[in-house]
Amino acid sequence: MSHATQQYDFSDADVGYRELARDLAALLAGERDLIANAANTAALIYDALPRLNWAGFYLYKSGELVLGPFQGKPACVRIAMGKGVCGTAAARRETVLVEDVHAFPGHIACDSASNSEIVVPLLRGTDLLGVLDLDSPQPARFGPADARGLEALARIFLDSLG
Ligand code: SME
Repeated sequence: MSHATQQYDFSDADVGYRELARDLAALLAGERDLIANAANTAALIYDALPRLNWAGFYLYKSGELVLGPFQGKPACVRIAMGKGVCGTAAARRETVLVEDVHAFPGHIACDSASNSEIVVPLLRGTDLLGVLDLDSPQPARFGPADARGLEALARIFLDSLG
């Protein structure tokens, strides 16, 4: 099976994310392995979305977030609940959009190229599986359409796990 990445048109973000959602569902179909599906989800997002410098997962283990599959530069491994953008999204169980990471109290700088960030919590019922984290060098790169689109992608990833 071929997974050559196509060019997505994000001039209308909702349209771009719909195309990406369709392709993510096809990519994950028939596979339930957490690491494999997280790795392919991170790779597809990083390849498809313009102006990213990091995309990947932190997984909730024994009360903290631990680095999972990702694309981008090596990153910090463990993040406490409530700390940084990731720990904040995990603790609040809601998507956190940060226009300027340098103005976010407690932001954890893994790649100095990052200027904006979005983190989507991964919830199975009431259980926290982890978070999906995207960084961009562009200030205010992410908006409500990205939140909607990435929450839909996160749902496809979660559903793939069975
Ligand atoms: N900036 C994140 C840490 C993870 S990296 O961006 C990959 C945070 O503040 O939680």
